[in-house]
Amino acid sequence: MKIQFEKNFWWGTAISGPQSEGIFAKSNLNIMDYWYQQSPEDFHNQMGPEIASDMYHHYNSDIKIMQELNLNSYRTSIQWTRLIKNIKTGEIDQEGYQFYRAYFQKLHDANIKTIVNLYHFDMPIELENIGGWTNKEVVDLYVKYAQIAFECFGDIVDYWATFNEPVVPIEGCYLYQWYYPKIVDFQKGIQAGFNTIVAHAKTVNLFHKMFKHNPNKKITVILNLTPAYPKDQQAENVEAAEIRDLLFNKAFLDTMVLGTFPDKLVELLKQENILPFYTTDEIEAVKDARIDFLGVNYYQPSRIQARTIPWNNNDPIMPAKWFENYQWPERRINPYRGWEIHPQTLYEIGINIKNNYNNIPWIVSENGMGVEDELRYQDSNGQINDNYRIDFIKEHLYWLNQAIKQGSNCFGYQLWTFVDCWSWANSYKNRYGIVSLDLETQTRTIKKSGYWFKEIIENNNVIEIEEGLIK
Ligand code: BG6
Repeated sequence: MKIQFEKNFWWGTAISGPQSEGIFAKSNLNIMDYWYQQSPEDFHNQMGPEIASDMYHHYNSDIKIMQELNLNSYRTSIQWTRLIKNIKTGEIDQEGYQFYRAYFQKLHDANIKTIVNLYHFDMPIELENIGGWTNKEVVDLYVKYAQIAFECFGDIVDYWATFNEPVVPIEGCYLYQWYYPKIVDFQKGIQAGFNTIVAHAKTVNLFHKMFKHNPNKKITVILNLTPAYPKDQQAENVEAAEIRDLLFNKAFLDTMVLGTFPDKLVELLKQENILPFYTTDEIEAVKDARIDFLGVNYYQPSRIQARTIPWNNNDPIMPAKWFENYQWPERRINPYRGWEIHPQTLYEIGINIKNNYNNIPWIVSENGMGVEDELRYQDSNGQINDNYRIDFIKEHLYWLNQAIKQGSNCFGYQLWTFVDCWSWANSYKNRYGIVSLDLETQTRTIKKSGYWFKEIIENNNVIEIEEGLIK
């Protein structure tokens, strides 16, 4: 079977500054840099972000590889802690500025449509020490930093993102102890989440003011969507899934795409007396902020049931009060990451955006498969034959294509990631790239999936899908 995407479809990869550049020459540390300094044992093989994939020194040759592979789009992020020298005054770090200027110019000259994201989990440690996203001063400092970034690079960067996966730092830093500072406090998490939404809204409004005469400049947010499937159609399971969806998806989708706060979510938080502190100006800013397109990261859905053991009301409140995860017996798992693989959900996301979110133009801004010990698949020429990754992508593209055929307005697909990169705590355990990285020498070698990507454009955006691949 063959599927085809339209002529101008964006094909590319996504990565982030803190996961790819290395710390070189930064005058400030972010929470991840600091966390590693404090507790290297929290990281796989005790490997930290100091060198990462050294894109600080390799961006020129990396962009050449992107061109060789016909990739017409890319996403990375600016590190707040690299562009800004004095986080409080907003004084620019000249070395950081020169680096990003040269990097983005190179991408611009290579005709690679680049989305520059402003924040990828990388809170400056100085601001974490005053409460991070729970502190409204941080919101103002973020907006100031965003303005500086727009002024510095707005002439050569057309596409911007305010945040990558704003729910993840809430989960990681305030609920489930994945990331430093490993706080467990749902109420603080709600405040941090709300303040992030406000920071996003104020930045979008500022951006539209600054670039109102230039329709080519566009701004988005990158949301990781994890649609919640109930165990079955029993009312309590359906209700549990609905609450999970409200807290982890709609809290961001509705506020950032529609400018509204879901009534049911507000009711739920009110009942528990955990509504965040807000001002009417902040609510107005959210109402006014309209993104120009939406970035969707899709890895896995969530499977939900009502609680099987009643919640103890003496325990501090957590989202688990309302639901439990459920193991779907038919699930397929990526064993290295423990995430379910369910490509059909991408179709459902596309239809949901079409039906409930004004059919806003959207892009798959991340999707991918992390695999451990990929050297097992290396052939005598040093190439990694990652057929599993190619199949994974094909399955997702099949379902994405079905959604587009039904009228969903998706204009591109970016794989996580370009060159194998460093990950929060998992370091280099799982490899996601279409280009492999030798950690000793920093040598790059294109994987089979990289060459497969290259052929898509050469084949007029037609992709051959083998019989039996789509279940
Ligand atoms: C996305 C993030 O959620 O998943 C990336 O935006 C991350 O930063 C990617 O690296 C893969 O997850 P992980 O934890 O395996 O690196």
